[in-house]
Amino acid sequence: MIEITRLNKWYGDFHVLRDIDLTVAKGERIVICGPSGSGKSTMIRCINHLEEHQQGEIVVGGIPMTRDVKRIEQIRRRVGMVFQHFNLFPHLTVLENCCLAQVWVQKKPRREAEKIAMEYLERVRIANQAQKYPGQLSGGQQQRVAIARSLCMHPEIMLFDEPTSALDPEMIKEVLDVMVQLASEGMTMLCVTHEMGFAKTVADRVIFMDQGQIIEQNPPTEFFGNPRSARTREFLSQILGH
Ligand SMILES: Nc1ncnc2c1ncn2[C@@H]1O[C@H](COP(=O)(O)OP(=O)(O)OP(=O)(O)O)[C@@H](O)[C@H]1O
Ligand SMILES: [Mg+2]
Repeated sequence: MIEITRLNKWYGDFHVLRDIDLTVAKGERIVICGPSGSGKSTMIRCINHLEEHQQGEIVVGGIPMTRDVKRIEQIRRRVGMVFQHFNLFPHLTVLENCCLAQVWVQKKPRREAEKIAMEYLERVRIANQAQKYPGQLSGGQQQRVAIARSLCMHPEIMLFDEPTSALDPEMIKEVLDVMVQLASEGMTMLCVTHEMGFAKTVADRVIFMDQGQIIEQNPPTEFFGNPRSARTREFLSQILGH
């Protein structure tokens, strides 16, 4: 589904991604962790071209990423993304948020878009809030709307960038539950998260990044039970230690 080969990226002089190689099969669930500033967000943002890379290759669903706008659109159609800060439109209702791209990008009739939106809002258990505005919902509810909005576009791959890190503890579970459900339905997922419980139960592979490199990647039992590099061990002792 995703094939990244020798990916390098710079912000000016700063070498942010260094020789990243990553292959993700259909239905695979990947968790990415690592210290702040290690390049996790930058790497997953390269996959749907929210960031541009300078060297290496990214192929998504068989489509090689170039600067060509048509190509980028083709790739983005297959890739959904959910961010830390939900990014819902505050002046649109939950239902309208979920219909917007369906109507304007996919050119669906409004009625059909609304029907699909309600199906996904039902799936994330928030259909009863469809007429509210994002500001009237809790953080956890808003994040579930953001997930539903993304699913309305029928993506084949979902990218999550710390979807629970801005949430109060009691809301984290309701968002993770939705992500676990999505994983059990076979969605190809890349999640940047420090929710190690989620990583242990859901991930096929956990990736540790540091200073723009993939330092280690292994199935969770191996990753947590027998971390190979000293940097991984140090990181794990920090985040599992409290
Ligand atoms: N637009 C930008 N211009 C310049 N430098 C940037 C830009 N975006 C990110 N960086 C730098 O690139 C590095 C990697 O950033 P990135 O956001 O990918 O890290 P991250 O691993 O996601 O960190 P966090 O856990 O804090 O979200 C950081 O040092 C950051 O300061
Ligand atoms: Mg980040």
